[in-house]
Amino acid sequence: MPTEALQFARQNQSRFLDQLKELLRIPSISTLPEHRGDVRRAAEVLAAELKRIGMENVQLIETSGHPLVYADWLHAAGKPTCLCYGHYDVQPPDPLEEWISPPFEPTERNGNIYARGAVDDKGQMYMHVKALESLLHAHDGKLPLNVRLILEGEEEVGGEGIAQFVREHPERLRADFSLVSDTEMFAPDLPTLCVGLRGMIYTEIEAHGAATDLHSGIYGGAAPNPFFALCQVLAQLKDANGHILIPGVYDAVVPPSAEELKAWASLPFSEEEFLHNEVGSCALTGELEYSVLERLWARPTLEIHGMPGGFIGAGAKTVIPAKAIAKVSMRLVPEMEPQKIFNLYKQYVESLCPSGISLDVRLIHSGDAIVIGVDNPYIEAATAALHQVFGKDTVFIRSGGSIPIVGDFERSLKIPSIMMGFGLPDDNLHAPNEKFCIANFHRGIESLIHFFEMLGAEGHGEA
Ligand code: BES
Ligand code: MN
Ligand code: MN
Repeated sequence: MPTEALQFARQNQSRFLDQLKELLRIPSISTLPEHRGDVRRAAEVLAAELKRIGMENVQLIETSGHPLVYADWLHAAGKPTCLCYGHYDVQPPDPLEEWISPPFEPTERNGNIYARGAVDDKGQMYMHVKALESLLHAHDGKLPLNVRLILEGEEEVGGEGIAQFVREHPERLRADFSLVSDTEMFAPDLPTLCVGLRGMIYTEIEAHGAATDLHSGIYGGAAPNPFFALCQVLAQLKDANGHILIPGVYDAVVPPSAEELKAWASLPFSEEEFLHNEVGSCALTGELEYSVLERLWARPTLEIHGMPGGFIGAGAKTVIPAKAIAKVSMRLVPEMEPQKIFNLYKQYVESLCPSGISLDVRLIHSGDAIVIGVDNPYIEAATAALHQVFGKDTVFIRSGGSIPIVGDFERSLKIPSIMMGFGLPDDNLHAPNEKFCIANFHRGIESLIHFFEMLGAEGHGEA
């Protein structure tokens, strides 16, 4: 017999989805200044909903950037406190012409809901809200455990606001563990907990040559070209075998344990399928001496994202641009320190600067890599909850992506994080046609209800 909270969630499935669609219609793109108002509107809609379902102390907390949404319910004396985290901001939707239905008009197709933010992270964050609503409704406005909930609106731009808040007010987020639903399952129907994330540094290299744009016929051959300079620099950052060439960059890298490697080797993974169904290129690249999963989860990498500048319109323009930019990031693994790595990177890039060019190397944002121990009662309750819903044992994976605040939770709040995500490998995060499997939205809500009910039951006191 399902609990009352589960019954409520099942009876309200279509309303939950409709409400998610409302949220998905708001283009809360944190990186674009013209969407500032939309980001705030998303925060306000969430705050209003949290009040309506019976959460307490609901408030928007202002930051240097977009607001945080906070709520709590702290009356379960003697029970553990969970810090629910999610983000309501999204990545830009471009290229728009690649979307089958428009990014901010959520559309159902073959059991999925398509929209920017469907899985990353509005849909997943909203599972927390709807699990809490179900529990509050079923228990006369009470929860089985204590909950604080914090939602940020700038995860996709580095999360500086929440990081500062956590550093300055750790007591306001005091909890026994955090719960994050912003990751993926390893395969459909395979319950998954993510226990490791890569860190990152995101940088820009700005190259300056001539004082102004120049005619490339009159000056070409004698004047420096900042794009060429960037190409020369970038080409020396990584070799053809995927090795980063920055001196000292690998010094701190801690390889995964033999146990972890063994577990990864037994995951249902086919390099062929990954290549054809997910990547879609003619070959995989990188450090071939490591397995694909090791390359993605436990090795640092360096990527170029875009090179703004010069002439990019249709047709031809013969110009030597005065300046050019390269956006470059590195993914980091434990124990690489972002600031140290940035210093090594900056020093090396500057040492490669061609004659006639000046380079400005700057850090846009950074975050730590993290690996989470699996030996705690919250992991145990999470696997038991997932077993209830999926009828299978949970696999533990790492992910190559980054969620900067998880490291801060560990360092500033000294709590472990449970990363229980319900995304799928083909959900198109940050890409056109992002989607969330609707069944996973509902299974996620049910898993969270089980999880909270288990932690509220006897035997799970305060840590
Ligand atoms: N939810 C993702 C990270 C993620 C995706 C983790 C899939 C595990 C599995 C998050 O929203 C994200 O995209 N983070 C950014 C980091 C940020 C600092 C821009 C990323 O990883 O690029
Ligand atoms: Mn996310
Ligand atoms: Mn993201």
